[in-house]
Amino acid sequence: MSGTANGSITLTVEGSNKATRLPLLHGSIGPAVADIRKLYGDLGVFTYDPGYGATASCESRITYIDGDEGVLLYRGYPIEQLAEHSTFLEVAHLLLNGELPNRAESQSFERGILRHTMLHEQIRSFYNGFRRDAHPMAVLCGVVGALSAFYHDSLDINDPEHRRISAFRLIAKMPTIAAWAYKYSIGQPFMYPRNDLGYAENFLHMMNGVPTESSYVNPVLSRAMDRILILHADHEQNASTSTVRLAGSTGANPFACIAAGIASLWGPAHGGANEAVLKMLGEIGHIDRIPDFIARVKDKNSNVRLMGFGHRVYKNYDPRAKIMERTCHEVLAELGIKDDPLLDLAMELERVALSDEYFISKKLYPNVDFYSGIILKAMGFPTHMFTVLFAVARTVGWISQWKEMIEDPLQRIGRPRQLYIGPTQRDFVPMEQRG
Ligand code: SDX
Repeated sequence: MSGTANGSITLTVEGSNKATRLPLLHGSIGPAVADIRKLYGDLGVFTYDPGYGATASCESRITYIDGDEGVLLYRGYPIEQLAEHSTFLEVAHLLLNGELPNRAESQSFERGILRHTMLHEQIRSFYNGFRRDAHPMAVLCGVVGALSAFYHDSLDINDPEHRRISAFRLIAKMPTIAAWAYKYSIGQPFMYPRNDLGYAENFLHMMNGVPTESSYVNPVLSRAMDRILILHADHEQNASTSTVRLAGSTGANPFACIAAGIASLWGPAHGGANEAVLKMLGEIGHIDRIPDFIARVKDKNSNVRLMGFGHRVYKNYDPRAKIMERTCHEVLAELGIKDDPLLDLAMELERVALSDEYFISKKLYPNVDFYSGIILKAMGFPTHMFTVLFAVARTVGWISQWKEMIEDPLQRIGRPRQLYIGPTQRDFVPMEQRG
């Protein structure tokens, strides 16, 4: 345990003499936690927290979010500084190992990643089993989960070397798997990775290159892509990371755990929101129709949400959204797109929402997904590839959090309890008596 015990909370059960004292554990920054591990033993009750909005599932040294202040730190470094000055592979080293690499460490890490970008040739035939119109997230789930069928030499999760090589393989192969899913969907030949290119540059090369021409990757776009990957790399104990940790707590191999994370990220309330934002903007269609849409969002019975807005933790601006918006203007300018109707619509929608009492009172601000789809669409990504890109980036965070959990001496299988509200015990009823 690395939290510092200081103080406690005393709980008593009204009308009984039962009481317990829960130690308060303090981290380096952020809220303290009440250690409830002995609560059931002392008082015979569980805590109740659907969606885990007020529950710390673990100790972690990786990412810190202050939702009220709109702060995001990767191993203590502000996301704004990393987005401005770092690279995705340098951030990968930081998230995995805890420190920014020195020059030698950086070169060795990059060489390690680049040596694993290729896929086993038999994995190519996996793609042929999918329909051409399969959603690429379905392909990603399938292919990543199947990697454990190919790498029997790195499945012992208790072997640090196996953990290291599995992390390298996953980080290195995700862009190849993702780009091949795209190429398969449009019937173009797969492009092999090139180890003379940077990580983001290589991804764009595999996405947009064709064997018949030498491929050129615009450096402004590959820099923008690298920054987008940094912004999506990790985010504390979000739903997909918690999925990876829960799967990993059973001892499942890292490829299976990351496949579980991909499945969880796919949901429109989570990583699927960037795709949902573009769909929403398409449905709104024109600035004149924003008032009607906002009215539907505010109508409880409509079940319509302003996608790309709101966050379980941020009750202020998501710092990633601001960087994403800036990157959006950069990319559109580089592509010579003067007036992108989608961007104009999104900016007007943001302006209207941020001045509307409904959103202000519920502290709903743009999140990382609000602008990302506009950039990716301008860069030529089809909408169904947006969450795939999120998964490519988040694989670094997932595998870093998985590694931290496996190496935590206190980690044990995750097994939440429940408040049971079903039938009390009753006897079996034979068919003839069932009415
Ligand atoms: C990501 O956890 C992470 O860190 C995730 C992520 C990461 O990097 O891993 O940051 C990535 O998933 C970003 C979020 C992307 N999702 C969306 O943009 C989808 C739209 N947003 C929401 O559905 C919602 O805001 C959530 C899911 C993101 C957060 O939901 P919460 O915290 O459970 O909030 P809630 O659903 O309880 O809503 C609180 C209130 C409700 O109104 P009341 O019942 O109190 O009257 O706010 C309303 C909600 O109806 N609300 C919205 C809204 N989001 C919340 N109303 C309209 N539009 C929205 N987007």
